[in-house]
Amino acid sequence: MSHHPIEDSNRSNNPEIWDLLEQRVTRRSVLKSGGAMAITSASGLSLLGLSACSSDSDGGASGETPEPRLAFTPVAKSLEDRVILPPGYSARVLYALGDPLVDGLPEYPNDGSDDGNWDRRAGDHHDAIAYFPLPKGTQNSDRGVLVMNHEALTDIYLHENGPTDLGDGVRPLAEVIKEQFAHGVAVIEVARSGTGDWAVDRSSDLNRRWHVNSEMEISGPARGSSLMTTPLSPNGITTFGTLNDCGHGVTPWGTYLAGEENWFAYFKLNSTGDDTPQLARYGISSASPGFNYRGWDTPALGSNQQRRFNASRTGASAANDFRNEPHHFGYAVEIDPYNPNAKPKKRTAIGRLSHEGVWFAPAVSGQPLVAYTGDDSRNEYIFKFVSDVAWNPADASLGIEGGDKYLDAGTLYAARFNGDGTGDWLPLTPDNPDLMGMSAAEIAIYSRIAADRAGATKMDRPEWGGVNPRNGEVYFALTNSSSGSSGRGQGGGASQPRDAANPRSYTGGPDGDITTAGGNVNGHVIRWRENGVQDAVTFVWDIYAFGARADYAAAINLSNLDDTNDFSSPDGLWFDKRGILWLQTDDGAYTDTTNCMMLAATPGTVGDGGSFNVPGADGETVTTFIGDAPGESLRRFLVGVRGCEITGVETTPDYRTMFVNIQHPGERGDLTDYQSSWPYAADATLAGTVGSRRPRTATIVITRDDGGEIAV
Ligand code: FEO
Ligand code: CA
Ligand code: CA
Repeated sequence: MSHHPIEDSNRSNNPEIWDLLEQRVTRRSVLKSGGAMAITSASGLSLLGLSACSSDSDGGASGETPEPRLAFTPVAKSLEDRVILPPGYSARVLYALGDPLVDGLPEYPNDGSDDGNWDRRAGDHHDAIAYFPLPKGTQNSDRGVLVMNHEALTDIYLHENGPTDLGDGVRPLAEVIKEQFAHGVAVIEVARSGTGDWAVDRSSDLNRRWHVNSEMEISGPARGSSLMTTPLSPNGITTFGTLNDCGHGVTPWGTYLAGEENWFAYFKLNSTGDDTPQLARYGISSASPGFNYRGWDTPALGSNQQRRFNASRTGASAANDFRNEPHHFGYAVEIDPYNPNAKPKKRTAIGRLSHEGVWFAPAVSGQPLVAYTGDDSRNEYIFKFVSDVAWNPADASLGIEGGDKYLDAGTLYAARFNGDGTGDWLPLTPDNPDLMGMSAAEIAIYSRIAADRAGATKMDRPEWGGVNPRNGEVYFALTNSSSGSSGRGQGGGASQPRDAANPRSYTGGPDGDITTAGGNVNGHVIRWRENGVQDAVTFVWDIYAFGARADYAAAINLSNLDDTNDFSSPDGLWFDKRGILWLQTDDGAYTDTTNCMMLAATPGTVGDGGSFNVPGADGETVTTFIGDAPGESLRRFLVGVRGCEITGVETTPDYRTMFVNIQHPGERGDLTDYQSSWPYAADATLAGTVGSRRPRTATIVITRDDGGEIAV
């Protein structure tokens, strides 16, 4: 971590801040009575002249290994159509849209012609990614299984002439099936050859695509509920498919969790008689189809498999129409990468949200497991799940049975971030009177409503989270938020007033203006430390870093970012086991200056900065808590290609190979102007030749030219 002071010109003479810091320490002194926590994490201690202790005394911390030091040259912002990496690093394409997963299929033509084998090809929009070593139980860094989400589509490039409308919105069945197969999750075996190049092993029995029509199981409190009844699931136990999988989780028992994010946006309601408050709370309304609506409910000659994406009340009961089909999506879906025949399970105890991933704190023998998740729509919440059953390290290779044991019974909490820098976990349980009698199944299915009633804090679009393996502190990306109705169209509703945890509202563009409210244009990364034990119900928080253009005024660029580390719209976030924090962007606010990017950080600890009064257009200030300005401890590692988002990052256990997804290159192009042609003409620089070929989402493999560990 660096020791750069944060920009503090607005706070040095403000007595209110000192009062508040003192209150905070007083409160912390009370809260520490549990013992293990000590007062090392109270924000503002350094300002008060108290020395901060090492964080190593915390439960779950690994104080043995020295903190890693970043040792690469930060890369400059870029608008080029190639992947930019630091000197001494190279990348190659491993797995691109349409690539065969099995032997014997032709290579992908990338012109929209269809061979009908999309359940055996790479899907589109590669997102979260995780590496599971082979053989199972080893730390092998030369052969493993990659599991990755295929979140969504750039359908203009998927079909010969873009998506076809046969008239009145009716879609050709073949296109609908292709689109449904191109979503979901892929499991692929990969290996490094003697020459050091990685390749997909198309002959592997482990290769598998889980897509929108794959049979799966409902598990946890929603299983068997009458709210899950559909014509395809009369008992509410089975379901079909997973949809819009974005972030992920890796469980302590060796499985993968895929988070279903913008699933609601594929649904349609015919008329106002189909509207319900429960559907509205999840962004499904007859006023307009969702932003991912593709007419899947309309295909010529389609079956129920396709038609279920219309949730209208066309039948006499839930057994006769698909009014309950939206209840089948929005979960964390467990997949066993080592067992292609194990049916995936939707773990409903972790809630029904626009799920990003599910990120576990390090598992501690004899302690409950703790995992975090976020709901990525405007004004939605951050959640924590605590298992009923304590962790037994003998379960480390249990496979999907581990989820039955640890994920089907537990307590889901929603986060409240208080204005004094403390926080509370609000239990979403039937015995919480605030929930007004919701059953366990209703809490699982209507988790947003449960969190509304509990009084959780509305956030600026929670994206990915992660737990620092060095000290158990939790980080979450809050990607951005615009006031009013523009945004990215994701749920939410009206604009959100500023509060301590979401304190900025300003206009963006080259001349960012704090005197005009416009939202949290560039996003921020919040973090917290649990009080004493990971399953505590209280915490202290601060903001690790605020996104901003480096040349913005200090009142917006609150973390004093410079040209080596300025970023906008943090989205992907991942800690590797060394404790390096990786931040990835999915941005539309700084894209006049740079393509999306990935940064690396050694992020310090909660409370290493101080408080700050953030000005606003209304003349009011909002007091927030900001970590030490990151300085050189935050560096840009990669810049992607035109129109892409950078998402998903993983390393092999030896940290010598990194996998990163370049999602939706050329997203803002069309068939007359692709915007990007990446990864064609792929060479050492992964340059495209714009206009030459349709762009393709792909996984790249990054290595250091001298074979060393990435980033250090
Ligand atoms: Fe698919 Fe919220 O990112
Ligand atoms: Ca994302
Ligand atoms: Ca995003």
